[in-house]
Amino acid sequence: MLKTRFTALFGVEHPITQGGMQWVGRAELVAAVANAGALGFLTALTQPTPEDLAKEIERCREMTDKPFGVNLTILPAITPPPYDEYRRAIIESGVKIVETAGYNPEAHIPDFKANGVKVLHKVTAVRHALKAERIGVDAVSIDGFECAGHPGEDDIPGLVLIPAAANRVSIPMIASGGFADARGLVAALALGADGINMGTRFLCTAEAPIHRQVKEQIVDADERATDLIFRTLRNTARVARNAVSREVIEIERRGGAFEDIRHLVAGARGRKVFEDGDPDFGIWTSGMCQGLINDIPTVAEVVERIMREAEEIITGRLAGMASSGVAA
Ligand SMILES: Cc1cc2nc3c(=O)[nH]c(=O)nc-3n(C[C@H](O)[C@H](O)[C@H](O)COP(=O)(O)O)c2cc1C
Repeated sequence: MLKTRFTALFGVEHPITQGGMQWVGRAELVAAVANAGALGFLTALTQPTPEDLAKEIERCREMTDKPFGVNLTILPAITPPPYDEYRRAIIESGVKIVETAGYNPEAHIPDFKANGVKVLHKVTAVRHALKAERIGVDAVSIDGFECAGHPGEDDIPGLVLIPAAANRVSIPMIASGGFADARGLVAALALGADGINMGTRFLCTAEAPIHRQVKEQIVDADERATDLIFRTLRNTARVARNAVSREVIEIERRGGAFEDIRHLVAGARGRKVFEDGDPDFGIWTSGMCQGLINDIPTVAEVVERIMREAEEIITGRLAGMASSGVAA
């Protein structure tokens, strides 16, 4: 049992979250995470409309009576999704925890607060964490350079980013990016975080609603097999390395514009990877911690194993070092 400011604030058993994952953060996975005593987030924009999101929230409720949340990812878009309507769907469905990510969530905070919704905002820089604290979010999740998805443009790994943020942020803080096992959780707590967020580890579980071949690809891949695309657009994304990611990077290197890569990076192609299981069909997201992932367990096994081994590390190996001075 590890109690932290995070578990107290959000009323969950374990200091572990499953962050938003486009095409993956559906009821099956989120309910499994909730039932395991951790905090899962449905991904709002995986649902084509706010009405579909309300139905997905209902579906998740049928599978768990434990708390779960919804991720609202705010990204730049020529024709943005109806964010206000997604926010209303979350509130009207009675969900009490939201993970915001991407752009500044300020416009959404008053409505969430007025309706008793706690906001965990995901950031990639200390300055953004401080800004989030100022505008009134309840907690921050800070993504190091290792993370799957958008690590920002500063390239600061968690080993520096987490304690740098802990030095200055007062509200509870979740460490994100590169965490896949108990060693990561204990390290994050030592660095000053109140828990960890995992994407890639939960992507590679029995309940993740994606094709098994993609999970097997994650098990086979090592920590080097990711690529950073969209660097030249200053919208960097860490994705699984494959023929398509190599082609995107080559076009970017030659000075290509978004129009030149649009056909390669289309979300529909990435979605088909997850549906059909051909890992080379399009761009899909995975993080460096795939190098730490060697199996496809159930979500309950992942959470139980991390919690059990974390306590063993703290009360065994670390306590032993502190009392005898000899490493176990
Ligand atoms: C397949 C996949 C899709 C993701 N989609 C989103 C998303 O839509 N919104 C978001 O805020 N983060 C997204 N992320 C990032 C995760 O929420 C989390 O921050 C990240 O995976 C942490 O790094 P890790 O994979 O090393 O654990 C995604 C990650 C993965 C693996």
